[in-house]
Amino acid sequence: MTDNKKFFIKTADGSSTLFSQEYGEAMHSDSGAYEEALLKHIYPSKILESSHDSLNVLDIGFGLGYNILALVSEAKNRNLKKNINIISLEKERELLPFMEEIFFNDYRDEIYFFIKQAYSQGFIKEDGFSIKILFGDGRESLDKIKGISFDAIFQDPYSPSKNPEMWSLHYFKRLFTLLDDTGILTTYSSALHVRRAMLEAGFIIGKGPSVGKKREGTLAGKNPLFEPLSQVEIEEIFSSSKSEVYLDPDFTFSRESILEDRRERVRLRRI
Ligand SMILES: C[S@@+](CC[C@H](N)C(=O)[O-])C[C@H]1O[C@@H](n2cnc3c(N)ncnc32)[C@H](O)[C@@H]1O
Repeated sequence: MTDNKKFFIKTADGSSTLFSQEYGEAMHSDSGAYEEALLKHIYPSKILESSHDSLNVLDIGFGLGYNILALVSEAKNRNLKKNINIISLEKERELLPFMEEIFFNDYRDEIYFFIKQAYSQGFIKEDGFSIKILFGDGRESLDKIKGISFDAIFQDPYSPSKNPEMWSLHYFKRLFTLLDDTGILTTYSSALHVRRAMLEAGFIIGKGPSVGKKREGTLAGKNPLFEPLSQVEIEEIFSSSKSEVYLDPDFTFSRESILEDRRERVRLRRI
């Protein structure tokens, strides 16, 4: 049986993150959980500079809701007069007791109150923003999203080796169909097989910011709205055996079988 215990860790910007024993990692980097939401997702997604009248955001891995909190807080700080519609994917239903212990002791507490409500009720609509949480395996939830194209996708599950079902080639192909032509997908990962899966799914990719001790992340879009990787950098990705992608054609493979299948292909390539 997997141990599903979780406990808080204080990060360098004063905000707390949760460590999950099931995944063997924390939800955020120890350099600053809230800061990570802003620097790795909100700012590089350029969502708040979009010219669209209303904004659609796909937040993958709700977690403690920091990405949503940072997004709505920034929009309010900038006095943005647009509706922000957020769809968030989350597998876990037991996070509320942890969220109830989180306080920022400033204007964010009021916004966080609504984010907690969204988590417990599945939906809220407030002045300027709405949040809908799709509970369950994110791969299945993606199939329920119809008729929306997203201005930003925050790709924020646990790391690829711990959470492979959320980083496969087939998964990124699905995200490609959901991203608007002017949208940007943001993620903290720069793993070669993640970058290759994005490229094979049709995305143009570029380097995302590096925050704290972590390596640079990755930005993905349908058009070059950021500096794209050079042809040499792309060739380096494809020529490395580490770029063998995760495959999950029916969205039904277990974590272990996705990992095992890739291990075998990497092994064969190295022979
Ligand atoms: C790194 S945390 C996300 C942190 C979050 N974005 C925040 O701002 O606080 C990853 C989240 O992805 C969720 N997750 C992992 N695998 C999933 C899956 N297959 N479907 C949906 N959610 C998943 C986990 O339960 C966890 O809450």
